[in-house]
Amino acid sequence: MKKTQDFIQKNQQRFLDELFELLRIPSISADPEHKGDVKKGAELVAQHLIEAGADNVEVCETAGHPIVYGEKIIDKDLPTVLVYGHYDVQPADPIELWDSPAFEPVIKKTDIHPEGAIFARGACDDKGQMFMHIKAFEAMSKSGEMPCNVKFMIEGEEEVGSENLGIFIKEQKEKLAADIILVSDTGIISNEHPSITTGLRGLSYVEIEVVGPNRDLHSGLYGGSVANPINVLSNMIAQLHDDKHKITIPGFYDKVEILSDEERAEMARAPYDEDEYKASIDIKDVQGEEGYSTRERGSIRPTLDVNGMWGGYIGEGAKTVLPSAAFAKISMRLVPHQDPDEITEQFKTYFESIAPDSVTVKVKPHHGAIPAVTPIDSNGYIAASNAMEKSFGKKPIPLRSGGSIPIVALFEQVLGLKTVLMGFGLNSDAIHSPNEHYGVFNFNKGIETIPYFFEEFAKLEKQ
Ligand code: BES
Ligand code: MN
Ligand code: MN
Repeated sequence: MKKTQDFIQKNQQRFLDELFELLRIPSISADPEHKGDVKKGAELVAQHLIEAGADNVEVCETAGHPIVYGEKIIDKDLPTVLVYGHYDVQPADPIELWDSPAFEPVIKKTDIHPEGAIFARGACDDKGQMFMHIKAFEAMSKSGEMPCNVKFMIEGEEEVGSENLGIFIKEQKEKLAADIILVSDTGIISNEHPSITTGLRGLSYVEIEVVGPNRDLHSGLYGGSVANPINVLSNMIAQLHDDKHKITIPGFYDKVEILSDEERAEMARAPYDEDEYKASIDIKDVQGEEGYSTRERGSIRPTLDVNGMWGGYIGEGAKTVLPSAAFAKISMRLVPHQDPDEITEQFKTYFESIAPDSVTVKVKPHHGAIPAVTPIDSNGYIAASNAMEKSFGKKPIPLRSGGSIPIVALFEQVLGLKTVLMGFGLNSDAIHSPNEHYGVFNFNKGIETIPYFFEEFAKLEKQ
């Protein structure tokens, strides 16, 4: 793939400039005020696919945000790679914590990224990583070196649960026929230690409302004699873990996949430095489920976390008030064999059962995600491993991730296709946080690696 790699080398600067233009669009899928921007994001992605040489490019409307489709079928007898990614991003809040504006991309050097990193919302998750595929495709197609057919499906609702993409893939099974799905929306251990993600956690997400008195009360006149919804909610949340940091919801662990000692030993061989981990996020100590390592707690074990909690007075100074209601958003990360709907139901039953009579508790379920695991003995995995070995000069390590990509499990259920999670981000890239960034090295490395994947996959499928 000499011509392709030369093309990539020569066009590096242009690729970055084009990515910057995409990063300037605040395509925040969660915020209705940005609906028009999400659409603009879809249109720009479509335009890039056309310019890169894709055929039948469409911006497919859905009940929510559009899905961009495009394809290049060069020979029906060649294998087909379906590339999935997302152009929507998380909200930039809290915006005051950004060192430079979230939608004005700039390159700055960091300790971890001495060649520079692109700072912007979506730089890593997932515009930067998704865009690598469009540019790698452009390089292959303009160099006349396409080892496989390719289809692109780039959505605008990943960050809000991919509900409409689920419907889309059920309706478009034929159009989406392929041999493998390729996704860059995960990470590697470090630039020195490449890895391939072999599992994603699932998700159950609930919103809670605890209501006490019919109005805010004077905390002197009523305090002590009326249940305070924030106190009650805090107490109920505290009961969701025991002193060994196990989740107390009855049945919660019943279906959890138990890994063999060999599998756990294999996992423990991946490079990891706990002191470095602590230093990178400025914590004095880690905390989690007894009997498991930090790595395990963050990938093969389920979790329950409060994502936000509010109620009462949070303005300047002190206001003495006994609030009438309290709220929280809780996520549970799930591991293989746990079912999101079942877990949500178990949560609701248990949470309502521990509520005192002094308040009314409502549990509202949000989107969920089914956990996913990907095999390491498939052509897709081997192709990714060979491709990364070529570009990094080192064989990547298989590793499960703690994050979720809701559609991956559905790809298997609905389309019958395995997914390869060949991402290039780093945990330190601050995705979903202020100052999200993506290494220029990682962006270029991704564009370099993808054509090798196509080449290796075509070779393996022919055998
Ligand atoms: N790309 C991430 C997931 C991810 C990141 C997986 C890094 C592995 C490594 C994705 O965009 C994401 O943020 N997913 C959400 C789920 C969604 C339902 C909001 C998540 O994991 O919180
Ligand atoms: Mn993502
Ligand atoms: Mn994300």
